[in-house]
Amino acid sequence: MASYTIPKLKGADTWRELESKFPPLKNDLLLRAARGEETPRAPVWVMRQAGRYLPEFMEVRKKHSFFECCQTPELATKLTLQPIDRYPALDASIIFCDILVVPQALGMEVLMEPSKGPVLPQPLTTPADLARLPETVDVQKELGYVFDAITLTRQGLDGRVPLIGFCGAPWTLMAYMCEGGGSKTFERSKSWLYKYPEESKALLTKIADVCADLLVGQVLAGAQMLQVFDSWAGELTPNHFQEFAFPALVHISRKVRHVLKELGHDEVPMTLFPRMVHAPSSLALLKPEISGYDTLGLDQGLDAVEARRLVGPEINLQGNFDPVVLYGGREGIEKEVARVCKRFHEAGGGWIANLGHGITPNVKPEDMGWFLECVHKYSVRK
Ligand code: CP3
Repeated sequence: MASYTIPKLKGADTWRELESKFPPLKNDLLLRAARGEETPRAPVWVMRQAGRYLPEFMEVRKKHSFFECCQTPELATKLTLQPIDRYPALDASIIFCDILVVPQALGMEVLMEPSKGPVLPQPLTTPADLARLPETVDVQKELGYVFDAITLTRQGLDGRVPLIGFCGAPWTLMAYMCEGGGSKTFERSKSWLYKYPEESKALLTKIADVCADLLVGQVLAGAQMLQVFDSWAGELTPNHFQEFAFPALVHISRKVRHVLKELGHDEVPMTLFPRMVHAPSSLALLKPEISGYDTLGLDQGLDAVEARRLVGPEINLQGNFDPVVLYGGREGIEKEVARVCKRFHEAGGGWIANLGHGITPNVKPEDMGWFLECVHKYSVRK
């Protein structure tokens, strides 16, 4: 913990003083569901809600590169607020940024190529490459722009909805850092786990440390909830999930909670999104008392009632509408929303409605609006 530095709070000496400068929260449905309360209806937000399906997003992207948007607090704030301004039915905002800012903070070059997605031109190929990574990372120096964007966004939100901060999970980030981009087979990153298990664990811990510092900094800057995206967790065998990915996730939740407590901060709800992790033995680990995360993000491959049976009654669930339902037409959307809401009501416990993965670029903005309306209607608890 010695390397930890408290991010500079904008004109305030403590987070409490900073918090008192923000407009009061008018809609706390998300935070209530994240505390396990059965809310009158499910709060709803959508992963990648600030994205390419919005014409106003594309307007900004015409003039600015992807990482310029992430690194310029005024642009990140503008993009974060776009879906909130357009859809009053949204119950949460998520800061506009990317999981790949952590490899950048670790000194790796990351490009966002229009047709390919992320590209890391100099991936880690053998453990000798680990020498390229710095011993420690000063998150305030490398990622202070994320904290500035969070503080600015809290002001722009004017208390309409809570703001979620996030990071990528160590395994998912290691996969990008070893593959050099996306992959179908993950053979470069997964072979590290077989060939170099100890070095892989050291790398995962190093990434986890930066992720934890990034999350703490986001909370101190004004984030009211946190999410960790383990998008490629489902590529691992259950054995490798338990041996490599999971301990690094626990490292993050423990460190975040420990540092925030040391700083006298209140508890912050934390969500884990371990995409495509379906093995009962892995899901059994994801109980709050073992993992440290109080909400579990489900992808669309799991049924709410089945998931509830496997993870127990304590955890809140988030998800898990098929992102493709947004191409299903008004009737199709309504029918599927009604069906999934019924399953979550049967499952019981805290529920935050979301898609099972990010919204895709060809969705019509009015279909997203209709989806949100349907969730409001059918998630009402009777
Ligand atoms: O949810 C939000 O609205 C907040 C912003 C956000 C983005 N990326 C913006 C983005 C969040 C939370 C992410 C997380 C992220 N980034 C994940 C985890 C979630 C998931 O999708 O599994 C991952 C794996 C990444 C890495 C990443 N960034 C990829 C694979 C891509 C390309 C994907 C594609 O659709 O082309 C990105 C680019 C990206 N991140 C875009 C946005 C809006 C689109 C790129 C653009 O504007 O050119």
